[in-house]
Amino acid sequence: MDRRDFLLSSTLAAAATAATATSSQVLAQTQLAQSRIETEPGVNMDRPNTAYEGSKLNRKLEIVNLLDLETEAQKVLPAGGFGYISGGSGANWTRRENTEAFSRVNIEPQALSGVSKVDLATEILGSKLSMPIFVPPMGSHGLAHVDKEAATARGVAAVGTLMTTSTVANLSMEEIASHNPGPKWFQLYVPTDRGYTRELLQRAKAAGYTAIAPTVDNVWAYPREENIRNVFRPPSTLGRGNLPRGVDPGTGAKMLGARKRDLDWKDLEWIKQEAGGLAVMPKGVQSAKAAAMAVKVGLDGVWVSNHGGRAFDGVQATITVLPRIAQAIDGRIPIVFDSGVRRADHVFKALALGANVVGMGRPIMYGLALGGAQGVQSVLEHVRDNLTIVMRLAGTKNIKEITRDYIAPPAIA
Ligand SMILES: Cc1cc2nc3c(=O)[nH]c(=O)nc-3n(C[C@H](O)[C@H](O)[C@H](O)COP(=O)(O)O)c2cc1C
Repeated sequence: MDRRDFLLSSTLAAAATAATATSSQVLAQTQLAQSRIETEPGVNMDRPNTAYEGSKLNRKLEIVNLLDLETEAQKVLPAGGFGYISGGSGANWTRRENTEAFSRVNIEPQALSGVSKVDLATEILGSKLSMPIFVPPMGSHGLAHVDKEAATARGVAAVGTLMTTSTVANLSMEEIASHNPGPKWFQLYVPTDRGYTRELLQRAKAAGYTAIAPTVDNVWAYPREENIRNVFRPPSTLGRGNLPRGVDPGTGAKMLGARKRDLDWKDLEWIKQEAGGLAVMPKGVQSAKAAAMAVKVGLDGVWVSNHGGRAFDGVQATITVLPRIAQAIDGRIPIVFDSGVRRADHVFKALALGANVVGMGRPIMYGLALGGAQGVQSVLEHVRDNLTIVMRLAGTKNIKEITRDYIAPPAIA
């Protein structure tokens, strides 16, 4: 019996015997299944699954509303892959709240500003971007499309913005970089092995990545119910591009999965020291206190994120905490923002409340599934074009002008 059969039989057995088994027996079965299907981090990808194939579609997309893409992507992707991409952790509360919280922030436009031409170009940590919208790190783009991260990189390059490569990408960071001459960052799931960590930092620098984002919000896996139901984890056959070099694949996979769980500020200081001058910013900052600490220890930015509600369910929406983080940072280092962004007015609100650049995760994966590189390009162009309209209506002619002045204060009761 292989691991999958074991998992299936334990899950099914739990269901079949639920009527007769004691509740503690059922609970034990469920816990066993959960522990075997840990997703990121500690994702266990050691079982080959040759059956999985992402979409092969390559086309421009006519987009009305990014939310429609989720429905469409579900039609073209295997259930397990779609569930992995779309799902959040726990009860999905934070996942929903991330987007819903934007509706509690109101734009206060300045009419008669005489704005018609708007400039979306911006700069962050020395990189010039065509717009303040970028692609955050997502593991395993092969779940969405057979061309994997190469297609995403080409789509991003076509619009001239920034892409972040995940430690658990299917393709290597070097191959992804070869498809995108533009700005790029590398996300780091900090391994326990310091030699391997050093190797990843050096590879990133050599491949042209200019910043490192150690992820700090997901060091322990919070169960993702959709993956448990689907008995799913990203298949290893899609590739693991950033395995350590010079070790056998089995050892490499173990080293990739062995992440430092007791991560603290000293680890980030060490990464900064070893990063060869690359910018370092923690990804997953969710409090003003942590943001202030990032400044104190000399980091180059903070990335306000809750992993799109895929890490710790129950935490506040990122747009809710952003104003307090912006206040703590007080312009000393840039703020990168993501989680729940689905519209150009969301981008505008995040910029106005202190973000320097704004990432969109799942919509990019859906664009990839529905149209490959052109699909990714279509998603980015759609938000860019709508941001142009939002800025004209608000009365802001460039990104710097988007400030808190354009957010309405709470109504007087
Ligand atoms: C399929 C998928 C895989 C992800 N993989 C990673 C990862 O490898 N590392 C990481 O730091 N964040 C990862 N994330 C989180 C994203 O970087 C980002 O924080 C999140 O998608 C933003 O929320 P949104 O999807 O609501 O836009 C992943 C997200 C998705 C949807």
